[in-house]
Amino acid sequence: MEFIDLLLLFVTLFLAIIWFKYWSVTGGGQKNLPPGPPGWPIVGNLIQVVLQRRNFMYVVRDLRTKYGPIFTMQMGQRTLIIVTSSDLIHEALVQKGPIFASRPADSPTRLLFSVGKCAINSAEYGPLWRTLRRNFVTELINPARIRQCSWIREWAMDIHLKRLEKGALETGSVEVMSNCRLTICSVLICVCFGARISEARIKEIEAVLKDVMLMTAPKLPDFLPIFTPLFRKQLKEAKELRRKQMQCLVPLVRSRRVFVQGGRCEESNIGGDMEMVSPIGAAYIDSLFGLEPAGRGRLGEEELVTLCSEVINAGTDTSATTVEWALLHLVLDQNIQQKLYEEIVNSVGKKGSITEENVESMKYLGAVVKETFRRHPPSHFVLSHAATKETELGGYTIPAHANVEFYTAWLTEDPSLWKDPGEFWPERFLEGDGVGVDVTGAKGVKMMPFGVGRRICPAMTLGTLHVYLLLAKMVQAFKWVPIKDSPPDPTETFAFTVVMKTPLRAVILPR
Ligand code: HEM
Repeated sequence: MEFIDLLLLFVTLFLAIIWFKYWSVTGGGQKNLPPGPPGWPIVGNLIQVVLQRRNFMYVVRDLRTKYGPIFTMQMGQRTLIIVTSSDLIHEALVQKGPIFASRPADSPTRLLFSVGKCAINSAEYGPLWRTLRRNFVTELINPARIRQCSWIREWAMDIHLKRLEKGALETGSVEVMSNCRLTICSVLICVCFGARISEARIKEIEAVLKDVMLMTAPKLPDFLPIFTPLFRKQLKEAKELRRKQMQCLVPLVRSRRVFVQGGRCEESNIGGDMEMVSPIGAAYIDSLFGLEPAGRGRLGEEELVTLCSEVINAGTDTSATTVEWALLHLVLDQNIQQKLYEEIVNSVGKKGSITEENVESMKYLGAVVKETFRRHPPSHFVLSHAATKETELGGYTIPAHANVEFYTAWLTEDPSLWKDPGEFWPERFLEGDGVGVDVTGAKGVKMMPFGVGRRICPAMTLGTLHVYLLLAKMVQAFKWVPIKDSPPDPTETFAFTVVMKTPLRAVILPR
């Protein structure tokens, strides 16, 4: 450690002690917070969590059994209020929706990638968030735009099936997650930039954005901002990654701008492996060029890259993860797969083309996807929320701006809400305890893969459509069976979403 680091350490320790004594929520002995595990001075429960060397969601799962439906964890300087029960989640996110609709403060690393919270997911509840979200809803996911962009999905799904066939010929089996990620990523790139680009470039963007997600996942500096100067190396790495992200996506921004301003396609085709295919006005970025959110003015390239990356990141892993888990169950239970195949054949025939209208009317497909969301919610928490002012929940005080973390996985594991919750049983959504369940949570919360309330995923229908199409087309084209002597392993792990630790591989037999 260099002298300057030692000096910084002493100064920050001194400041931390002052902060702990006078301002911290626990150190100052503040009133009536939910109970929680006793912590150490200054770091609270942070070191205890780090020492467990397992993902935070498993720590929370265990603490819930000890401390009940709402509890407090002091993670360094951050106070986390963990909410796990259906009634408290509903009370906070629906009944008191506007109060719990904000987001907590971000670390310098996260601020770098969000350009100071200029993204829908990270913006505080206020005018910037409202403008960005309204624009997203009207420009990207209104039903007319979704229909207008259906050819993009058609094009990407064709390539997807051919890629699977080729992969199976070469190696005897296919990997589900990586193939689905690539396909969804190519769809979202085209939706954002109106451009069709080469597979090599899609892979490059996908890899950089995956690194961005990992880099912005909560780390020590998020919990100990007072020690930020000690994390210079991490911030340097983050800046380098941001540079790569800009280098990857700015050419797309510039090409589209040239195209929108009436330039010829060739002029906008930097590198020669990009084709502007969506008409002017049909790409998400077209709407961002003219947007002027209050207090921000015209958005620059930094903001444009952030907002488009947000769409690609938010929509890729979530849907791909769902397809992977659904296929795991279809591989393990051939009866479910056969039932789904029969529904597809009855609807469009063995070789008929599956349209977006078709999948929406397939009831068994809907039940399989809902059961997958229930049994394997892509994330076990929604994004971090924060209260806009001090408030009350479950009889406890919730401080303004503290992190409020909704542990939503428990809802779908709760035996008082679901019969045999560990079973994968799609029929529960046709004739069992899933009938009538409303994932938007307006009247009550039994499962919430998309969140509920003000911050509910604005692209719920689009995300579900991606899952429907992939699953229906993959099952119509191939019979999915386990690899001989190598059955799939359902162990899960956390990689932004909760995925299979050993990615699913299966043999595909043309039908
Ligand atoms: C199966 C697919 C998807 C799942 C399970 C999913 C789930 C979620 C969840 C849990 C949240 C956080 C809600 C909260 O904080 O309370 C969220 C937010 C968000 N999602 Fe999705 N999502 C999916 C697909 C998509 C797609 C395809 C897009 C974009 C095209 C998208 C864009 C967003 C955005 C922008 C937010 C932030 C909303 C806000 O903070 O106001 N999502 N999503």
